[in-house]
Amino acid sequence: MKTLFQNGTVINASGRQKADLLVSDGKITQIGQGIEATADMQVIDCTDLLVLPGAVDAHTHFETQILVGTDNVPYKSADDFHAGTRAAACGGVTTVIDFVTPLKGESLTAALDKRKAEAAKACIDYSLHMCLTEINDDRLGEMRAVVDAGVSSFKVFMTYAIRLTDDEFLRALRRSKELGTVIMVHAEAHDELEKNRADFIAQGLTDPWYHYLSRPESVETKGVERAIELAAIADAPLYIVHLACEGGLRAVEKAKKAGQIIYAETCPQYLHFTSDVYKRPDAANFVCSPPIKGEKSREALWQGIKNGSIDTIATDHCPFNLAEKALGKDDFTKIPNGVMGTENFYPYMLSEANKGRISYERVVELCSEKPAEIFKLSPNKGSLTLGADADIVIYDPSKEFVISQENTHSACDYTIWEGVALKGYPIQTYSKGKLVTGGRGFVI
Ligand code: URP
Ligand code: ZN
Ligand code: ZN
Repeated sequence: MKTLFQNGTVINASGRQKADLLVSDGKITQIGQGIEATADMQVIDCTDLLVLPGAVDAHTHFETQILVGTDNVPYKSADDFHAGTRAAACGGVTTVIDFVTPLKGESLTAALDKRKAEAAKACIDYSLHMCLTEINDDRLGEMRAVVDAGVSSFKVFMTYAIRLTDDEFLRALRRSKELGTVIMVHAEAHDELEKNRADFIAQGLTDPWYHYLSRPESVETKGVERAIELAAIADAPLYIVHLACEGGLRAVEKAKKAGQIIYAETCPQYLHFTSDVYKRPDAANFVCSPPIKGEKSREALWQGIKNGSIDTIATDHCPFNLAEKALGKDDFTKIPNGVMGTENFYPYMLSEANKGRISYERVVELCSEKPAEIFKLSPNKGSLTLGADADIVIYDPSKEFVISQENTHSACDYTIWEGVALKGYPIQTYSKGKLVTGGRGFVI
């Protein structure tokens, strides 16, 4: 089946052109002006519309169990791979990269197989990062087999029950370097934040504002600085997930200037909200780690987006239902951490471009081209070029959209984005040439 996208403005990170785009058998086979429509083609009129590469959300946590509090209460994130990718696709995401989180004692390859079975419900393309939840000779040895199975990135945590010590982190960086992969890191100073949490709870300071105060800017900055130091010792590339603070950004900028290969990812929740959300009646719904920081950090992150210090935007989509969030109303340490975002992130960033804050090309670079490149999905993903997968979003810059739980598609029973008004919205999403959302109602 062939589809001809006629008369649109095709946007890549490298620039834009008024062009037609032809898709055959799920691939882009022609881009140019005046491509003739023939009887075997479905024609999509894209006049006054933008034709964009689908977004690559490189940080989701679908059907993921997390352990909360000192007694490690298990919670599962609200979206499974079907609901999560349905929501993602409705917002113009055509690839998600989720995580395999092996149990301690479990082999990486066994955990990968289990995760692939769960991910089979996805309605768009997916890939997986492998978390390293323990380091020993067996796990380091198995990393090769995981790479051979198509994984290009490993993730470590500096906090939570699955954190690594600095020595273990260093071993992981060295092994990753040997394998030509990249280590991703959740960077926060664990000992300091744990002490803060215990001190606040002991003083009866239990509401979500103390979630923020227990993990303030300095806690994240110290984590990021240490992670960068370890990457320098190992001379290995490092990808910092969900960067949320100015101090961390400065450390990234300094390391990049010194020639280190450091990638920084931030998320829309850190670009739109500030720590003031932790004073709202629904503060628990915004509890995520690292927490959303103050206005100075928000501004710095936007600056980092404009000047190139930030490489990617992803979502860290990990929502929990209201009743679960409410279980921590008398103790912030009992609130499951995580917020939603996969359906809103591309529309939010594109809306900011539409309002003139950055260019559409830069949004495509941050949300599609760069993550595809870093996680070795290009040239199939990340750009609309000859031979690439036809992962295409048709975007209407004139469509007004107010985000609500009712007009979005996550299985979660609220959204922190409720009431946020966007200028422009994706109206169709194609995965390898197949319409997955849009047109006459949602297809999936
Ligand atoms: O609060 C968050 N971010 N939850 C998801 C797990 C993580 O740390 O990325
Ligand atoms: Zn994290
Ligand atoms: Zn995460």
